[in-house]
Amino acid sequence: MRIGVLTSGGDAPGMNAAIRTVAVTGIAHGHELVGIRQGYRGLLDGNTVPLSLPMLDGISRYGGTMLGSARCPEFCTPAGLQRGLESIASEGLQGLVVIGGNGSLTGAHKLAQQSECQLVGIPASIDNDVGHCGLAIGTDTAVNTIVEACDRISDTARAHRRAFLVDVMVRESGFLAMRAGIAAEADAILYGEKHQSEDEIVAHLTAVLDRVFERDTERTRALIVKAEGVEASTTSLVRRLQEHLDKVHHDVEIRATVLGHVVRGGGPTALDRVIAQRLGYAAIVGLEEGRTDVMASWDVPLDFGEATLDPYVRYVGLADMIDETRALLDGSSPVVKVRMSLLGQVESLLAL
Ligand code: ADP
Ligand code: F6P
Repeated sequence: MRIGVLTSGGDAPGMNAAIRTVAVTGIAHGHELVGIRQGYRGLLDGNTVPLSLPMLDGISRYGGTMLGSARCPEFCTPAGLQRGLESIASEGLQGLVVIGGNGSLTGAHKLAQQSECQLVGIPASIDNDVGHCGLAIGTDTAVNTIVEACDRISDTARAHRRAFLVDVMVRESGFLAMRAGIAAEADAILYGEKHQSEDEIVAHLTAVLDRVFERDTERTRALIVKAEGVEASTTSLVRRLQEHLDKVHHDVEIRATVLGHVVRGGGPTALDRVIAQRLGYAAIVGLEEGRTDVMASWDVPLDFGEATLDPYVRYVGLADMIDETRALLDGSSPVVKVRMSLLGQVESLLAL
């Protein structure tokens, strides 16, 4: 088969490990591997590069993506999709592996519905907001990056008896903020799925700060982790909380650190590399089995999707991924409900 591979959307640590494993497995199985640069932009522009083993050597350790990624609004239009189908045909692709988040995989689904070319997706996004995927590539690395940043911030916060609000770039999903917040011993974790108003958040956080800094405690640091998807602005929250601190704990300051794209950089953890490698291998096997309009997904319940030889990897239909992603983001998914319930049970323990 002549197989294309592209990375699309927000880049994620581990994408290179996925590219490498797709290509190495494909080449070893006798297929022709074509790299498509800059995601769907590159597909539309015919921006391709033949992939060979030497150029792939050692790339798994690096963040980002050797093929480059992009956002391509044109591809979301009917004309853009048509151009994508024509590009696939003119490149003679019989298989295409799309490595990206829920948006990129939605694009792959639309291609699969109209193309003879087989489409297999690999979930990669630090937001971990891909339906029916337990851990998207990049998530574990992003969690560790946030935790390391929070540990560093905690050192200086304790030195100065300060509160810090750490803003985490995670689009709409609260997953990173929840997991990293717990690991970093945050005193409070804010996430969009709770749909709290700014006033509700301020009321919650002032109670947390009062508990942390009340006179007879030895505590000298407060850490608040806030997901990007929370509707209240970081600037406004810090201003209002400082007003409270000035009234009640006059010797405590609150500062904000916005981690931004730092969360998306850095070399992937071993777990992200292994997830990428096992999904990359399953993607090629899936193509060889004639599958299309599916993704190779990690840590999917045994009663969903189709089994592979790997107990942690299952094939999930892209249409099912789209439906579940919607439920993840609107909070109706059982996965989100369990996450929120678990955190809700321990929330009162965080600021002790
Ligand atoms: P991610 O894949 O990380 O979620 P985006 O949501 O930005 O990132 O999607 C990346 C690209 O995938 C978009 O720029 C667009 O080209 C394509 N894409 C996203 N959503 C769709 C859609 N609903 N239909 C077709 N293509 C889409
Ligand atoms: O989807 C990954 C992500 O990092 C989101 O967390 C964030 O909101 C978005 O990408 C930022 O996109 P860009 O890098 O295009 O500004």
